[in-house]
Amino acid sequence: MQPPRVLIDATRIQQRVDELAAEITSASRGLDELTLLVVLKGGFMFAADLARRIDIPSRIEFITLASYGDVTKRGDIRLVANIGTSLEGRHVLIVDDIVDTGYTLAYLNRTVAAHSPAGVWRCVLLNKASRREADLTVEYIGFEIDDVWVAGYGMDHAGLWRSLPYIGTVDDC
Ligand code: IMP
Ligand code: MG
Repeated sequence: MQPPRVLIDATRIQQRVDELAAEITSASRGLDELTLLVVLKGGFMFAADLARRIDIPSRIEFITLASYGDVTKRGDIRLVANIGTSLEGRHVLIVDDIVDTGYTLAYLNRTVAAHSPAGVWRCVLLNKASRREADLTVEYIGFEIDDVWVAGYGMDHAGLWRSLPYIGTVDDC
């Protein structure tokens, strides 16, 4: 199986993560703490890099989602593991790998809102704006990409390639 072809190399990713973390840090000035809600599995690598660069005391929480159906067709969202604590009164930054149709992020917005947080912001590494179906605000976006299937840096193609340090395109999609 051919590894994904480089779309965004590791150096560019790290530069952009630095910039995002600096923006988030300065926007969070005045807050005592932040809670990063990391969406697994795809958000794990981005969130690990981002969290280490955000210069404000942070809690890290996780939610694991999966979609029904195959790798390219987005079906209904399946909650695999829920948030393990209450987010009431917290300043929550949702951290995910990619926003595509937006249904996942819309689901997360509803889920987090049910906790009565003090505030909610969203940060995704990649945006496929041309595919958007749900009406969403995303405050922090790493890169805009075309409608191509990508893998690496946390993201998978049929379960593979999450461990790559770069983001690449997958041929047979
Ligand atoms: P949405 O609900 O359509 O916005 O899909 C978002 C989720 O689908 C992301 O959090 C990813 O987990 C997954 N996804 C969408 N596009 C890709 C891709 O190109 N590669 C890997 N995962 C993707
Ligand atoms: Mg995801």
